[in-house]
Amino acid sequence: MVTFIYHDLASRTPPREGIFSDYHLILCRNVLIYFERELNERVLKYLSGCLSKNGCLVLGEAETIPQRLMNGLELVMPGMKVFRKRG
Ligand SMILES: C[S@@+](CC[C@H](N)C(=O)[O-])C[C@H]1O[C@@H](n2cnc3c(N)ncnc32)[C@H](O)[C@@H]1O
Repeated sequence: MVTFIYHDLASRTPPREGIFSDYHLILCRNVLIYFERELNERVLKYLSGCLSKNGCLVLGEAETIPQRLMNGLELVMPGMKVFRKRG
């Protein structure tokens, strides 16, 4: 029941394989810190849009979501960088 695929987060096209939406959990730790701000924010919006209601996005310890991109998201575990999409 698990599908592994490669996807370049910097690309503007969705992955060819499978549906990329409605995820309950997205783990994206220590990836965004390597991106320039523009790409970082684009990917954050993209991942946030892929979450289902009440789904969680987990970032790395050194990563965060700028306040202006927190629309519809809440930090549920301070210190753990677990953000939940409001239902
Ligand atoms: C420092 S590692 C973090 C690995 C793991 N998430 C962790 O926390 O241990 C950074 C990861 O980002 C991935 N990465 C870098 N640029 C990427 C991109 N454009 N699209 C998808 N993954 C990317 C790399 O392949 C690498 O696995």
